[in-house]
Amino acid sequence: MTNPTPWWRDAVIYQIYPRSWADGNGDGVGDLPGITARLPYLAELGVDAVWLSPFYVSPQADAGYDVADYRDIDPVFGSLSDADALIARAHQLGLRVIVDLVPNHTSDEHAWFQAALAAGPGSLERDRYIFRDGDGADGALPPNDWSSVFGGGAWTRIREADGRPGQWYLHLFDVKQPDLNWENPQVRSEFEDILRFWLDRGVDGFRVDVAHGLVKAKGLPDWSGPMNMLDLPDPTQRPPMWDQDGVHEIYRSWRAVLDGYNPRDAEGYDSARDRVMCAEAWVDPPERLARYVRPDEFHQAFNFDYLNAPWQADSLRATIAASLAADDAVGAPTTWVLSNHDVVRHASRLGLPVGTARPNGIGADDTQPDQELGARRARAASTIMLALPGGAYIYQGEELGLPEHTALPDEVRQDPTFARTAGAELGRDGCRIPMTWEKDSPAYGFNDTGRTWLPQPTEFADLAVDQQVGVAASSLELYRRLLTERRDRGIGGGSLTWADVDPDVLSFTIRGTTGEQTTMLANLSAASVTIPPGHEVLVDSDPDGDGTQVAPDTAVWLRRTS
Ligand code: GLC
Repeated sequence: MTNPTPWWRDAVIYQIYPRSWADGNGDGVGDLPGITARLPYLAELGVDAVWLSPFYVSPQADAGYDVADYRDIDPVFGSLSDADALIARAHQLGLRVIVDLVPNHTSDEHAWFQAALAAGPGSLERDRYIFRDGDGADGALPPNDWSSVFGGGAWTRIREADGRPGQWYLHLFDVKQPDLNWENPQVRSEFEDILRFWLDRGVDGFRVDVAHGLVKAKGLPDWSGPMNMLDLPDPTQRPPMWDQDGVHEIYRSWRAVLDGYNPRDAEGYDSARDRVMCAEAWVDPPERLARYVRPDEFHQAFNFDYLNAPWQADSLRATIAASLAADDAVGAPTTWVLSNHDVVRHASRLGLPVGTARPNGIGADDTQPDQELGARRARAASTIMLALPGGAYIYQGEELGLPEHTALPDEVRQDPTFARTAGAELGRDGCRIPMTWEKDSPAYGFNDTGRTWLPQPTEFADLAVDQQVGVAASSLELYRRLLTERRDRGIGGGSLTWADVDPDVLSFTIRGTTGEQTTMLANLSAASVTIPPGHEVLVDSDPDGDGTQVAPDTAVWLRRTS
């Protein structure tokens, strides 16, 4: 039967960070068999799909975002047959599987990069990457002034086969992540092949890493501005390494590959079988991001403006309205997200003073977030997010209310940013701590040996899954309730009308695909707000909510009684 609403338009997708979700073999790093065994938890949570961060062969210089072989699994995570088993089990449970595609760069240990080093300047092998001669009389200066997103310069000089200092190669990220040259036709056809490889294995789609970075401005002009586009004072400025118009043609060709697995014009087309792509594109303003989700490109693109919006009703309102308007103009849904493996978890972020710029990690010497306030606001933030029309991503552990680890010792940090900035940026390890399943098991149930690649803080114990299941006031039960109501009331596919309340109160009504209306009301003011007459509470982010008042920093879903 043909499903009228393609599944991805309102899907809730759960991000699994394979290193840290479930460890089947007890070596301290999560793996695919561990994940497969735990999948029923996600079916019970009520999500539609999982996205797995990279599990490919990799030296793990950037936790797997440095891929040495796109068609095989790193032994630390398992094997291809483990991947097949995971996909099959997920499908059996009604969960779709999205895998991570990393096209901006490979690992320096990828066969292509090794061949490029061996082949010498001007070779076809070098042309698959971005090699240039250096500046200055003896080529000792980098070809331009770009910096790496992880700190330090974006160019590294190699030694040629004869041992002499040679050309430089571009790496927008770590030195072990050389950027590919997307002007090269071999690069293009290779990635179309990689897409087919995984589609043939049964995956339902791809999350595309650094989707705004593949094409660089001609001539690689200097750029001294910020490396994060979302930090640009003037969002109409476009750095030469990001959001170049040439990327779109690549995504059109990929969309054609995906659509080939479920042709729209064929008899028996079923949108339930759509294969999808989601862009990780840190792009502003929303109209530029919307270009990635035009009908023949990506299906989804993470809305990072929303993730970055301060805890203020007017900012949230403006961000939501601008995103919906920009995406509506191209007929695309908006894809909401609050946390992922790259940012301080929202349960901690929202416990920092309002207006604090999002830090890259929090350490023991930094001002600590107010955990109680952060947890309260995080529950409200998720209650807002899951009421919004469009898709949503949940990052593993956020459903438990897990905070950031804010006291990791420096010696365990693994994010390349930490070393590349000599500790000035702590990096992302604090949001990547192994998951917590059972309070009284080794490693809180992450495995049965107690080994973990990053230490778990003791406050994770009381947040373990087994402490929350069936506890009405828990964060986990709040998420389950939100996901159930969201589905039953057709909220994700619905349309939004703003409600006019106090400026510090964020409120809108969704007319769901079932015809039912749900009002979301979030109180970002300092005083309680009375629930409007003729409404009753369906879901309350506040475990102490009394059904008549919405306390500060809490949110409710309401239905009409009259
Ligand atoms: C993306 C990933 C991040 C990775 C970077 C380089 O931003 O989400 O984890 O470090 O790309 O691949």
